[in-house]
Amino acid sequence: MLPPGPNRAEYEAFQAFTLDRLGLALGDDKEYLLHGRLQRRMGELGLNDYGQYFRRLSSDRSGAELQLFCNAITTTKTGFYREKEHFELLTNEIYPELKRKIKQSPLGKLRLWSAGCSMGQEVYSMAFEAADIFEQELDAGLDIKFLATDINTEALTVARSGIYNAEMLQTLTVAQQKKYFCKAEKTDDSALRVNDRIADLIEFRRLNFIQSTYPIETTFQVIFCRNVFYYFDPDMRQRVLNRLARYLDDGGWLVLSVTEIGYEIPELVKVRGNIFRRQAATS
Ligand SMILES: C[S@@+](CC[C@H](N)C(=O)[O-])C[C@H]1O[C@@H](n2cnc3c(N)ncnc32)[C@H](O)[C@@H]1O
Repeated sequence: MLPPGPNRAEYEAFQAFTLDRLGLALGDDKEYLLHGRLQRRMGELGLNDYGQYFRRLSSDRSGAELQLFCNAITTTKTGFYREKEHFELLTNEIYPELKRKIKQSPLGKLRLWSAGCSMGQEVYSMAFEAADIFEQELDAGLDIKFLATDINTEALTVARSGIYNAEMLQTLTVAQQKKYFCKAEKTDDSALRVNDRIADLIEFRRLNFIQSTYPIETTFQVIFCRNVFYYFDPDMRQRVLNRLARYLDDGGWLVLSVTEIGYEIPELVKVRGNIFRRQAATS
């Protein structure tokens, strides 16, 4: 049986803390969510009093408890080729356009960012398609790199391992599994690991969208930032979107999730409900 949930004052303290540290605005009716997600951690600490847990969390100067809190509170639902229209956009429009550009300027490099990558399936799906479309260019030494970031270090551990069980692999065809994966050692028989040709294209990093600076030196032709803003505070969401826009190359694409419509990003042109581009510079 679950211990009693937080009282109103305790819940409000968590709401303010979550907004301040993660940019997430937990609604007044989301106590059940907090309650469910903190159970495991509070159980590990032998606590069933939210006030006690909050004091521990907010007084921990090491950052370790905050990280465990972020891991518990964030929603990490994801999947290979989730919202497949965005991968069709990549293969039918974005990658062919980038391929034409590379032909005109062969020394170019490609940089793509999965922002809020969770357990990695999004960035791996982007990379699978790139590995096919840019096969010849990769063999000829094309510099193509994917950055994948998230605040949740547990999700990032899965992402870095590149190991997925049968349930997670079920949206992939057998042909895709053969092409992009190899047998994962020391796991159950059905688990597969992303092969090195794909894994070598990707760097995973922890990044909190609301931190004051992003340690990212490059700009990107493509940024996927999907299903991240569901619980975000609207002002914070706008600030993060404006910031992501600054990381786009001229002509670069920012792809949000299919449900994230109605947003405006002043520096970018909206080309479809949830898809934005930075205007290409005219010469
Ligand atoms: C629902 S998942 C989406 C994964 C993937 N983009 C997709 O669409 O399948 C949302 C991710 O956003 C991350 N996230 C939430 N708040 C964040 C923040 N403040 N900074 C960075 N990542 C955050 C979560 O940890 C989670 O992994």
